[in-house]
Amino acid sequence: MRIILILFVIYELSSNGFCEKFRFDNYSLYKILPTTDDHIKVLQDLQNEDPYLDFWKDPTPKVPFVMVLSSPDKKPKLENFLSQHGMDFEITIPNVQENIDKETVREYTRNNNGSMSWDTYYTLDGINNWIAQLINQYPNIVSGIVGGYSYEGRPILGIKISHGPGRRAVVLEAGIHAREWISPAATNFIANELLSSDDEMTKSAARDYDWYIFPVTNPDGYVWSYKEFRMWRKNRRPIGVHFGVDLNRNWNSNWLRFGASTNPISNTYAGTGPFSEPETRSLSEYLRTIKDMDYYLSIHSWGQMLLVPFGNTTEPLDNYHDAVNIGRRAMGALSVRYGTNYTTGNIAEVLYFATGGSDEWVKEHLHVPFVYCYELRDSGEHGFLLPPEQIRPTGEETLDSIVDLLFQARRFG
Ligand code: ARG
Ligand code: ZN
Repeated sequence: MRIILILFVIYELSSNGFCEKFRFDNYSLYKILPTTDDHIKVLQDLQNEDPYLDFWKDPTPKVPFVMVLSSPDKKPKLENFLSQHGMDFEITIPNVQENIDKETVREYTRNNNGSMSWDTYYTLDGINNWIAQLINQYPNIVSGIVGGYSYEGRPILGIKISHGPGRRAVVLEAGIHAREWISPAATNFIANELLSSDDEMTKSAARDYDWYIFPVTNPDGYVWSYKEFRMWRKNRRPIGVHFGVDLNRNWNSNWLRFGASTNPISNTYAGTGPFSEPETRSLSEYLRTIKDMDYYLSIHSWGQMLLVPFGNTTEPLDNYHDAVNIGRRAMGALSVRYGTNYTTGNIAEVLYFATGGSDEWVKEHLHVPFVYCYELRDSGEHGFLLPPEQIRPTGEETLDSIVDLLFQARRFG
């Protein structure tokens, strides 16, 4: 009886989130410079052997460097391994916990006069409170939308910005990967500008389209990433003794074909079948109901890349050439303000072969003309731990590029 009681208490404590937040003391980020095909190969083997080594940038023939986060106990072994294979490396972040400590996560309580500040990250409740406030503040323009539900039953909340009927649609899908905090933050900044900017181009982009904006499409994962484990990427569905499906490998488009895992420990675990997860299933159903979608923008970090479908081939399929040309020009617009450089191209060509993503499904099944995946700042210096001072500049430059995309595409209309 007593044992059952103790087990029950432990269960309650852990499921109610009272368990201790995981610390990354002396976890180090390694930047590795492979120079031969063999180097890439052994790094891939290492990645497959040890799912607990967190590759922030995967070893593929396309990348000039690879990044790995190592726990303190694995560092000697990793360094030995790299030296043995004659690979150069440097430690770019010696103690990741220090960077985590510099990130701030604030609550936001509803306040009709206040607004969010753009120098901190926010909790899920904070973001949802802010959404509720926008709906109140702009009753004729903003409505609340529910894109679906998470495994733990949280709604995927968003806003629709519409200045009247008859407009074509733009969708922003952010935060599908929990640890990429800049994605919801920059997306919220953009939503705010669309509602309050004085800039004529921004105002007209806001006015001329219906905007469907989902800042956090993986709410369970997002909560987990600030309450328990900063580096969480997947959703939180239990799979045997493990947790989580990579929601950007779970869409019904070339499911499990490339760059996805069948191992539930893996960060790219694709799930038990296409759309096995409530988040992807319900969000895809919602997306089907949006009429006249011209743009679908899936917002990730990091790497400063603008990617077009598909992830299973480097063939220039569909309107690849138009999409890439328009994308490149938009990245020119993005660079004007702060000189931030992006690489534009097909997913498999620029990044890696990877399928089952939302962007591919939207392109394949909804036939949306312009589907892009943004990998926001930075290019590896801070990676997922982008300092909060960069939220505003990242939001500004990204909005510059989106406005440019929309204006260019009118020529095609
Ligand atoms: N970093 C993103 C991911 O790995 C890129 C997504 C690009 N799209 C894709 N379908 N692979 O999920
Ligand atoms: Zn991502």
